[in-house]
Amino acid sequence: MDNLSASAFSPATPPTLSHNKNSHRIEKAMNIEKRYIADVDRLIPRPDIALDVLCLAQDSSSSVAELAEKIEHDPNMTANMLRMANSSYFGHMQEITSLQDIIVRLGLDMVKVLAITSASAGILTSPQEAYDLEPRSLWNHSHACAILAEIIARYAKLENHYTIYTAALLHDIGKVVLNKPLLSACAARKTDRKFSSIIELERFMLQTDHALVGAALLAAWGLPESITIPVARHHTGGGMTPDRLDVKIVSLANFLVESIGIRSLMPESFHFNVDEFLRQNREAPEVSNFSANMASIMEEFFSRFTGADLILA
Ligand SMILES: [Fe+2]
Ligand SMILES: [Fe+2]
Repeated sequence: MDNLSASAFSPATPPTLSHNKNSHRIEKAMNIEKRYIADVDRLIPRPDIALDVLCLAQDSSSSVAELAEKIEHDPNMTANMLRMANSSYFGHMQEITSLQDIIVRLGLDMVKVLAITSASAGILTSPQEAYDLEPRSLWNHSHACAILAEIIARYAKLENHYTIYTAALLHDIGKVVLNKPLLSACAARKTDRKFSSIIELERFMLQTDHALVGAALLAAWGLPESITIPVARHHTGGGMTPDRLDVKIVSLANFLVESIGIRSLMPESFHFNVDEFLRQNREAPEVSNFSANMASIMEEFFSRFTGADLILA
């Protein structure tokens, strides 16, 4: 799990990511990361249908029937999406029985959310030993971040807050890629050195980190910069990119979920004290309308996450 120390928001620049916001620089910086994702298809199957659904849903000329047909190619995804759509998370009284039903009643944005959530659950539920993550721990953390980031984005009046949901859902996907290399590197290179964060350990052992590798993987899958940039920078807090609200929101959601301690705990045992948080975490990124609405945001988050936790049961 991500380290909770102040380094999560340290202004230190990652070794391979320049201050320059230019996307070409980021692409150039991704050479090391490419090495780690070269073989990734065997490790993480590309979620083709979810990615196609995201593209189709983006295209205003695609029809509801086309979308439904694409999703129906994957019976697991269809079943997952129906279960999610009928969960308390969405709070619908009337049962949703078909994909067309989901599209018509919940809308295209929700279809995108359900498709990417379902596909991600399959990727993120495996244990990641190098990070001391048990089965489902990374999924719980990622799903919690996604829900919270989407709520924060809505309060911040950021357009397209479902893109933020996807970025937050996938922000730690690089851990799945680096799990084995990190295990091997730690076994081969014994050191007494103390690391203040998992990012520092990764950079020492692998010359890159899970944020950059995750972004490189998502770029290779064809996801846009609106998703890859918040993923690449989720441990830099947006401090060096003050204009990017999306980076700040994903970083803040990650920080908050870490603070609450969501991992494999049951939602009832979560604890969050707004005053205490504001007192102790002055370094958290500032996001408009967050501090003033923190209590309402966290209340909505807890009620939605409790429902979401049952989705893949
Ligand atoms: Fe992370
Ligand atoms: Fe994280």
